Amino acid sequence: MKIIESKGARVPALGFGTARLDDETCARAVAQALEAGYRHIDTAQGYGNEAAVGRAVAESGMDRSEIFLTTKISRANLGRRDFRDSVARSLDAFRTDYVDLFLAHWPVAKTPRSVVLDALAEIRSTGRVRLIGVSNYTVSQLREAVETFGADLLTNQVEYHPFLNQRRLLDFARSQGMTLTAYCPLAKGEAARNATLRRIGAKHGKTAAQVTLRWLIDQDGVIAIPQSTDPGRVAENLHLFDFTLDAQDLAAIAALASERRLVDPAWSPDWDSA
Ligand SMILES: NC(=O)c1ccc[n+]([C@@H]2O[C@H](COP(=O)([O-])OP(=O)(O)OC[C@H]3O[C@@H](n4cnc5c(N)ncnc54)[C@H](OP(=O)(O)O)[C@@H]3O)[C@@H](O)[C@H]2O)c1
Repeated sequence: MKIIESKGARVPALGFGTARLDDETCARAVAQALEAGYRHIDTAQGYGNEAAVGRAVAESGMDRSEIFLTTKISRANLGRRDFRDSVARSLDAFRTDYVDLFLAHWPVAKTPRSVVLDALAEIRSTGRVRLIGVSNYTVSQLREAVETFGADLLTNQVEYHPFLNQRRLLDFARSQGMTLTAYCPLAKGEAARNATLRRIGAKHGKTAAQVTLRWLIDQDGVIAIPQSTDPGRVAENLHLFDFTLDAQDLAAIAALASERRLVDPAWSPDWDSA
């Protein structure tokens, strides 16, 4: 596994996503993922499955320190008191005394950025979360967090796959020594069906999904968190290190980029254009 070293942490570049998985399905999928070799699991308060993730981790018999665990605080919990209480509830659900990475899930207009960033820093100082970060922040929001409020963030977790250009965010994250975590890295499965990515895969004896994930984690500072409930695809998405994308492949993938988003709820910020 490729390990990204950033902000004093060692983060497996490939993690396992758990959005939309109910309790039972989530526990099974995380157990499969750990068995296959994933050591980085991504969840969120809003997914309602932190307890299932915690159960799968406990039942794996692995030492807690072997697993990099990320969760995200919901938009509704960003007020100061709700923040502390909800962190305590997350840790109870996981049945662990710390999470490796704690993210603010969305920027929220009604909660000032300074309040959110202060609360993140405070919770890190208790040791209950080791690293902090944000999700769905734009370049200007990230710049404000870092330059105005001095936030020490590991990552910004955002939608990123071959069909969405994230060059400006990536450049800014790198300039700050931060990582960028790619959610929906397979464009919710669309990448696996794309003709260009399939053609590149066929050339290397790999699938389009493997091409996509390798392309992502080959980029400096990029982490990807694909999700699958199928044991074969869970394993497939991890077997990425026995081929290399050449200049021709990279040019063909670059030509797929657009500004079309798959995740754009009503509360989204004013997204960056490329
Ligand atoms: N921070 C945020 O706001 C945010 C938003 C969205 C997502 N996320 C995170 O990102 C994670 C991943 O996002 P996502 O699940 O929406 O999208 P994704 O990982 O891009 O795609 C998942 C879909 O692709 C299919 N798939 C997976 N591997 C495949 C393969 N090798 N070949 C063909 N199809 C494959 C899966 O189907 P099968 O299950 O049938 O394999 C599933 O339908 C989430 O679980 C969550 O942790 C975060």
